Amino acid sequence: MSKRSVLLACFLIIVMPAAVLAQNSLKDAFKNHFRIGAALNPAYFTETDAAGAALVKKHFNTITPENHMKWEMIHPRPDAGPAGYNFENADKYVQFGEKNGMFIIGHCLVWHSQVPRSVFQDAEGKSIERAALLERMREHIHTVVGRYKGRVHGWDVVNEALNEDGTLRKSPWLNIIGEDYIARAFEYAHEADPQAELYYNDYNLEYEAKRNGAIELVKKLLQQGIKITAIGTQSHDKLDRPTAQQHDETLQAFKQLGVKVVVTELDVDLLPAVTRQPTADVSMRARATAASNPYTAGLPDEMQKALAKRYAEIFAVFLKHKDVITRVTFWGVTDRDSWLNNFPAPGRTNYPLLFDRENNPKPAFDAVMREASLVK
Ligand code: GLA
Repeated sequence: MSKRSVLLACFLIIVMPAAVLAQNSLKDAFKNHFRIGAALNPAYFTETDAAGAALVKKHFNTITPENHMKWEMIHPRPDAGPAGYNFENADKYVQFGEKNGMFIIGHCLVWHSQVPRSVFQDAEGKSIERAALLERMREHIHTVVGRYKGRVHGWDVVNEALNEDGTLRKSPWLNIIGEDYIARAFEYAHEADPQAELYYNDYNLEYEAKRNGAIELVKKLLQQGIKITAIGTQSHDKLDRPTAQQHDETLQAFKQLGVKVVVTELDVDLLPAVTRQPTADVSMRARATAASNPYTAGLPDEMQKALAKRYAEIFAVFLKHKDVITRVTFWGVTDRDSWLNNFPAPGRTNYPLLFDRENNPKPAFDAVMREASLVK
């Protein structure tokens, strides 16, 4: 063989597969398995970040609004009816999804966080009673879900109702309405759009006590004949936890319930822990130290590899359970826009996603694509 053909053969064997991998899109690679999504901030869905928007269109077939459908954003003033609402960004988000033929998620209707305190109070600032809060919740759900009826395909109806030990979180919703606030929220959402998929969404469900709490909760809803399409497991992971086995057991257990599973907020935090327990509780604050922020100048190779290995391990489990998982959504598009640069400590440089700060696919992207190609 001439030197030229040896070089050509080397090119075809070594460079081509990498190039092909880099060109393929996530949504195509996973098209026989489940939908692949990302949470978007306005720069993406208004397309002010044109390159970012192009990346989203190429790789994702389902989207979630990072913040703009949360109560404090979409319904910032206490009034019912048009005076209380601000649909500007939510409308743009839905239009972007429609224009690109995406499966559009609404996030989220009932949550203890990012909701104005006035929702739970009267004009004098006194706590309101059960009937009044139920009516506010019904009005909010009917207005928001009703506005996007047939256009938003799935809703996180209740977000993070559980404590780590599996008991119900003492949120204002629970304290004022009682346990059935969850069932009522699902009923109102179902009334407002009978076709929409409805999810219960939470973090740390891979840990046994909280997982069992979620199982109890969903069983009770199903026994009451409440429509619930899937459990949303946020999956804000660390490099070493939860283990692949914990993911596996969780998916196995949820499958027994007869509901689907959606992975709703996947990312992998690889910075040193600044809290004792793993948490995605957005009210948590910690201080950044130089030791907890070691990669400001870039991510060393061995960490890129560790992240790729971790993503391969997680996706191997998801693919094993592709009969029950209908969607895997990342919480953000690139490392640049991840909330983990500011949580739980502000101002750190984190690398939790598949695309780097310049929109380039990372080794973790290749690892995920490879996992997808191993499964029929
Ligand atoms: C939770 C919420 C999300 C988001 C993330 C962090 O997981 O469900 O809406 O706030 O925290 O950004």
